Amino acid sequence: MKITIFGSGYVGLVTGACLAEVGNDVLCVDIDENKIARLQKGEIPIYEPGLEKLVTKNVAAGRLIFSTDIAAGVAHGLFQFIAVGTPPDEDGSADLQHVLAVAESIGSHMENYRIVVDKSTVPVGTADKVRDRIRSVIDKRGVNIEFDVVSNPEFLKEGAAVEDFMKPERIIIGTDNPRTTELLRALYTPFNRNHERIFVMDIRSAELTKYAANAMLATKISFMNELANLAERLGADIEQVRVGIGSDPRIGYHFIYPGCGYGGSCFPKDVQALAYTAKQSGYQADLLEAVKSVNNRQKEVLFKKIHRHFKGELKGKNIAIWGLAFKPNTDDMREAPSRILMETLWAAGASVQAFDPAAMDETRRIYGNHSNLKLCASPEETLTNADALVIMTEWNVFRSPDFSDIKASLKSPVIFDGRNIYDPQRLSREGFTYYAIGRGETSV
Ligand SMILES: NC(=O)c1ccc[n+]([C@@H]2O[C@H](COP(=O)([O-])OP(=O)(O)OC[C@H]3O[C@@H](n4cnc5c(N)ncnc54)[C@H](O)[C@@H]3O)[C@@H](O)[C@H]2O)c1
Repeated sequence: MKITIFGSGYVGLVTGACLAEVGNDVLCVDIDENKIARLQKGEIPIYEPGLEKLVTKNVAAGRLIFSTDIAAGVAHGLFQFIAVGTPPDEDGSADLQHVLAVAESIGSHMENYRIVVDKSTVPVGTADKVRDRIRSVIDKRGVNIEFDVVSNPEFLKEGAAVEDFMKPERIIIGTDNPRTTELLRALYTPFNRNHERIFVMDIRSAELTKYAANAMLATKISFMNELANLAERLGADIEQVRVGIGSDPRIGYHFIYPGCGYGGSCFPKDVQALAYTAKQSGYQADLLEAVKSVNNRQKEVLFKKIHRHFKGELKGKNIAIWGLAFKPNTDDMREAPSRILMETLWAAGASVQAFDPAAMDETRRIYGNHSNLKLCASPEETLTNADALVIMTEWNVFRSPDFSDIKASLKSPVIFDGRNIYDPQRLSREGFTYYAIGRGETSV
């Protein structure tokens, strides 16, 4: 099938590569000329395991092409995927300018029947807006061309995006007519062989399903962080509580890890956008507001622990940070808790020496040559002359370090672990002062 994908970011690029992998003829269009030039040279602008191999293979096979030519994009695919960003607007709502710009482009250039597929995460009612925009542009052109708009939200996880796309847990198709249902079913058949994963529903329910999923996951995290803060005050160990509650299948072990807050391009903005949508519809979403504020507070917890440990004297302190990306296996720094920590440390007069296995370039892009930031070539290098070590991202490479080396390098043996990856008893035996999240130490 012929497919055009607008937006070659985390979602668009993975979607394009995976749809090409199963034999489709995919054209990826982006307005970012630099991004497209890099892709055309075979460079992958993001870190995503398995993606480079997939892109290279499908480009070589002629099934995957990158372009900035919007008209060519509209002419190419029966399916016109919209996979552009929907960042938060100032008021917390999802900013639809990129989505509607693509709708405008499709309306301006289309000559034949097209299925417009909303893959971006968009508020309920956006498919109607996309349809209205395309319709008004077509009407202005004085032509009569049929098109459909469907909602097909994406659930891939950064860090496992290719696998998630190839073996999805669900494929949500929000549609209002049988014609598009059949065509979308055919498109997704290669990803639906093992068992039925396709859920066809009305468009608004599909749009809401995506927000509901992310809001539920964010709620689980904020719930555990709330409990972790409580555990600190009560002298309990949240990790023991976690396994205790996870054993109940109604609760389960997934996604109940306490930590230094959730980040990334999705949870923060989607919880906020859903709360905004609720308000717009006259409903005060108290739970969503709480999920958001618990998370904002949680992103400050490590700084508060560091501040207290050093008795407020952070000026001139050197803090080593392991992990900058908002989670392992990605280079995505959007809303990463590490950013809040670094910025508050800087504001307090401290310096940062940091290492991340994938997000160094992205950190450099965001902070440039910040005078209080040293990006190091290895985890070990961050420890030289450092007053403390902070774990911000639970990359595998940080899980089993040589603690005696760490102790020898740090000025004083103190670790702040924002992901609870170490054993407090072991660290105490090794002679460290160890602060984790919700593990019994005095609360901040
Ligand atoms: N990143 C994720 O893990 C993830 C997962 C599921 C859903 N989503 C949703 O998917 C959407 C895209 O997210 P992302 O992380 O891939 O964003 P991204 O910022 O990585 O990529 C968006 C791309 O769209 C391009 N773009 C903007 N306007 C355009 C236009 N008019 N025509 C063509 N290209 C244009 C940008 O240049 C950019 O390359 C968002 O709505 C997001 O919420 C993201």
